[in-house]
Amino acid sequence: MNIFEALRESHERQRTYAKALLHTSGDSPERVEAYKQLKAELQAHETAEERHFYIPLMELDNGVELSRHGIAEHHEMDEMMEALDETEMSSPAWLATAKKLSEKVHHHLKEEEQKFFQMAGKLLDDKQKESLAGQYEKEYKAQMA
Ligand SMILES: [Fe+2]
Ligand SMILES: [Fe+2]
Repeated sequence: MNIFEALRESHERQRTYAKALLHTSGDSPERVEAYKQLKAELQAHETAEERHFYIPLMELDNGVELSRHGIAEHHEMDEMMEALDETEMSSPAWLATAKKLSEKVHHHLKEEEQKFFQMAGKLLDDKQKESLAGQYEKEYKAQMA
């Protein structure tokens, strides 16, 4: 497995969880559970992806801009989750912010998969792509535990 395949596995889960969240309603156990699942996935993925994808790319001249951009979007998603944590789950404001988060997640994943992965593919060699996958997986599992 290479780093891109490893990252995509979480991306698919993020898409599924974000979609599921928007199908929940009010202050229901389903919404609590769906949000918990998405938040845990996003946070574990962000940390592992920053440590074993963006930071190594940051060391390369042509990887600085894409890494900054990716990490800045992680921060935006974190702020949306902070806003959700501080909002009453049954309020319309909560669902409005959840929709914004879902849109941001989809935008971010698309940009990573269609733009950053292509750029990174040219900057990393096969050995790096493989070893980063192992390091990412290990960190992701540690974050989820
Ligand atoms: Fe990602
Ligand atoms: Fe990301």
